[in-house]
Amino acid sequence: MSRQAKTTVLAFDSDAIHAGNKAIENDNPALDEKVEAILSSMTLAQKFNEIRGLQPESIDGLYYSGGAESLGIPAFKMVDGPRGARAGTATAFPVAMARGATFDVELERRVGQAIGLEVKARGGNVVLAPTINLLRHPGWGRAQETYSEDPYHMGAMSVSFISGAQNHVLTSPKHFAINNIENTRFEMSANVDDRTLHEVYLPHFKRSVVESRAASVMSAYNKVNGTYCSENPELLTKILRHDWGFRGFVESDWFLGTRSVAPALNGGLDIEMPSGYHFSDENLSAAMASGELTEATIDAAVRRIIRQKFLFRLDEDTVVDTSVVECDAHIELAAEVARKSMVLLKNSDKVLPLDSAIVKKIAVIGSLADMENLGDRGSSYVTSSHVITALQGIKAAAPKMDIHYIDSYQLDDRAVKKIAQVDVAIVVAGLTYKEEGEFIPTQQQEAEDGQLARGGDRLFLSLPPDQEELIREVSRLCQKTIVVLEGGSALIVRNWVDDVVGLLMAWYPGREGGTAIGEILFGQVNPSGKLPVSFPQEMSHLVEWDIVSLDINYEYHHGYRLLDLKQQAAEYPFGFGLSYTQFRLGKLKVEKGGDAKDQLTVLVDVENVGDRQGDEVVQLYVGYNDSSVERHVRELKGFGRVSLAAGEVKTLSFSLNASDFAYYDVDNGAWKLEDIEYSLFLGTSSAHLPLETTIRIK
Ligand code: BGC
Repeated sequence: MSRQAKTTVLAFDSDAIHAGNKAIENDNPALDEKVEAILSSMTLAQKFNEIRGLQPESIDGLYYSGGAESLGIPAFKMVDGPRGARAGTATAFPVAMARGATFDVELERRVGQAIGLEVKARGGNVVLAPTINLLRHPGWGRAQETYSEDPYHMGAMSVSFISGAQNHVLTSPKHFAINNIENTRFEMSANVDDRTLHEVYLPHFKRSVVESRAASVMSAYNKVNGTYCSENPELLTKILRHDWGFRGFVESDWFLGTRSVAPALNGGLDIEMPSGYHFSDENLSAAMASGELTEATIDAAVRRIIRQKFLFRLDEDTVVDTSVVECDAHIELAAEVARKSMVLLKNSDKVLPLDSAIVKKIAVIGSLADMENLGDRGSSYVTSSHVITALQGIKAAAPKMDIHYIDSYQLDDRAVKKIAQVDVAIVVAGLTYKEEGEFIPTQQQEAEDGQLARGGDRLFLSLPPDQEELIREVSRLCQKTIVVLEGGSALIVRNWVDDVVGLLMAWYPGREGGTAIGEILFGQVNPSGKLPVSFPQEMSHLVEWDIVSLDINYEYHHGYRLLDLKQQAAEYPFGFGLSYTQFRLGKLKVEKGGDAKDQLTVLVDVENVGDRQGDEVVQLYVGYNDSSVERHVRELKGFGRVSLAAGEVKTLSFSLNASDFAYYDVDNGAWKLEDIEYSLFLGTSSAHLPLETTIRIK
């Protein structure tokens, strides 16, 4: 161990994450007075105008709602989305699932800041992001838009994005709630009991609202327990506003996202987007005349809407120079995220990093290798002015290497001969927007061979059969076959993974992704990403995946929690990822007290025992011993990323509150802390937890 004083790193530095978030700094009573004064001067027609979008199609990427010049009320100008501004060209960042794999909250705060700034530069003032629907099953078409299968991890990433973006614009975490099946999203009902709802599907929404004060929330298309989310008083009023104290507004998802007039407004919806199909003057007046809707309800919605407009000072409408869009700093940030997000899953005999003293000739195989593969082409589509492909990145990382490119998943005789002669074969395989993504029925019909969304859910998690066949064939021809995978969530690799020596999960890595792939393969960058989703051995190990039924019962256990329950090993577990160096954890300490009375501080030393710099992500899980109710075997309750030079040691510090140990008591509709023994596990994946201690909390 190093003799120098050890640095202590906070796993989650709340002050740093929320710095500059306008919703946190500018909460003040003078604002409420101003809002009341304006509200009292508004006509009914002006109020109606505030609660609906203005036109069905975006104008230069902007969806408008509300605004009254004579009263000084600015309009909202909403822009998608989760991996960059969908307005003109913009920096295409790695998708959220890739960013989830960084387990780096500070980095995600900076991504939020950059996306927020580009949205503003494109004329927007609300970013329709982040997508924080929990990944119940990796087959979800929009898996790539979200961060995680785990609610704690999702919450930490979400609040970081929101607080970063809210330095510049309002955010809209979406889709509230339980929108995680694509093909049936407009009609299906997610049926869920209260414990599962509060402990599994809502904690990250709660943190987004309470900790980072998201300015708005987008309601989901689907139903929860039989009621459409956009007219669900339990979700939009009881939980969001009464229980969590949300002071922002709720806008519906687009087109089929609003289903009624009075039930929606009475339930807690504030804005129908993208246009007033239901919330027309005529319908609103009729609902008021019949007594179903009162002006007080409309006032409550308008108050929430205009309060956010002035809280964020949209009336001052500062113009941002468009030169920030795809500026050097944002491009470098996209590269940094790509480098930190890729997950090295297999590295037999340390085949990676490739040593150019030994490896002289390589083949790069597969059409994906030289394709711009940024992910979904639904609402999260970002148009980038430039994309570096995997092939370009590999060539740049090894300029003197003899590289032969085979642009196909079928090998002809020439290709076969070539592969048999190379030292290393790199197959770039995976998915595109054609296999997964947002399901937009009209676009699907128009999109045959086109550029628009073709995605939807994945019924199976394996690679397309021609790619599996190719990997097997290449690995027969070349002993050192490495696979680089692209895609938005878990893939099943069992059919071929034993035939290859190296496997790197690259996700949809954004405009600079190719550079990161090259640098990782050749060792200029040490891989440090960790899986935010379990890669199962087979589908039957996961929850049942039904993308047809309109009624689905959501279970308490999914992802690593279900695998733990069944004692079923994952192919690659949640939280897993290899490095080119090795780390050791030690000196686990638990201290009572911290900032709050009910706080615990958990300290652990992380040492880089290898011979090169590297980053490690340490994960803290809690287990429940002799609980009187069913609990998960273990739940993630903290993670921290540390960067260590060879031989360096740092202490990582986690904070836990009593609430981290509580369960949702359905009888009382409140959280309850049991006086039992709790286990704390620390390690580097959900399946590798070498340090353990127990505590009691009263
Ligand atoms: C998506 C939302 C998106 C909206 C506007 C909807 O179809 O579900 O996530 O923000 O369109 O593009």
